[in-house]
Amino acid sequence: MIKIAVCGACGKMGGLVIENILKSKELKLVSAIDVTNVGKDIGEVMRIGRLNVPVGDANDIDNVLERSKPDVLIDFTIASAAVKNVIAGAQKKINLIVGTTGFTPEQRALMENAIRENNVAAVITPNFSIGVNVFFGILAEAAERLSDYDIEIIEAHHNQKKDAPSGTAVKAAEIISKKLGGKELVYGRHGLSPRKAEIGIHAVRGGDIVGDHTVLFAGDGERIEIKHQAHSRQAFAKGAVRAAVWVSSARPGIYEMADVLGIYQKK
Ligand SMILES: NC(=O)c1ccc[n+]([C@@H]2O[C@H](COP(=O)([O-])OP(=O)(O)OC[C@H]3O[C@@H](n4cnc5c(N)ncnc54)[C@H](O)[C@@H]3O)[C@@H](O)[C@H]2O)c1
Repeated sequence: MIKIAVCGACGKMGGLVIENILKSKELKLVSAIDVTNVGKDIGEVMRIGRLNVPVGDANDIDNVLERSKPDVLIDFTIASAAVKNVIAGAQKKINLIVGTTGFTPEQRALMENAIRENNVAAVITPNFSIGVNVFFGILAEAAERLSDYDIEIIEAHHNQKKDAPSGTAVKAAEIISKKLGGKELVYGRHGLSPRKAEIGIHAVRGGDIVGDHTVLFAGDGERIEIKHQAHSRQAFAKGAVRAAVWVSSARPGIYEMADVLGIYQKK
């Protein structure tokens, strides 16, 4: 059995990931970590019945990991917390799944340094859904063929989402930009803002939208819209659990979901 710790266990994604771990024959939940509900049984917090796994205090993560000895730590928290959790996990030689989004380049570098220095394996991705990772591959191909078209990315999420634009929209922009030899990214427009050769990125927030991403390629007399819509967070949770199984036996390194799925080449 692969032993799993979940950071952000009391959140929307953490709870779903735990439900998927409980259904898996390969995985065992050994630790649930959060800053809320500390000491309560995570099954009772989730209202699914006692699991005999108390919520460990994220502020005491070193001791929680020392006691529960997970093989893989899955993090769905907030960027500042995820950096600390990833460093703590890497120092204990635990392989990592990082689903949290909204990292600054400095935060990302801190995590990557800890992963490399401690020789662990980590999958870091803003989107664990299989569909979105196929969508990324389609975008790369479209960008190559429509390089002189105007490109805009429009994403929509629920009104509780903390970061904007979404990590998935940024990743889509990076994939397209890389294919086109580097493009300026413009986040929204206001006032006088004539279009140049940039990729425009627009974030919509409202209601309970799980996650929509549309990439518009607009040319003379026509346009193509490539769209992915997540109907439920289960698409992400299922992918995160699949990645946890994969990373448990991966060689040290930093990976993306594309590596887990083997569905498109990064370079
Ligand atoms: N990669 C993906 O596929 C994917 C999919 C959905 C959401 N996300 C990202 O996952 C993150 C969490 O999303 P959510 O919707 O579950 O949010 P949420 O607010 O429902 O849950 C976050 C949880 O983290 C906890 N937390 C805060 N600080 C902590 C710390 N120091 N240590 C441990 N836990 C801590 C909070 O108490 C809360 O329970 C966000 O960054 C979101 O953008 C990623």
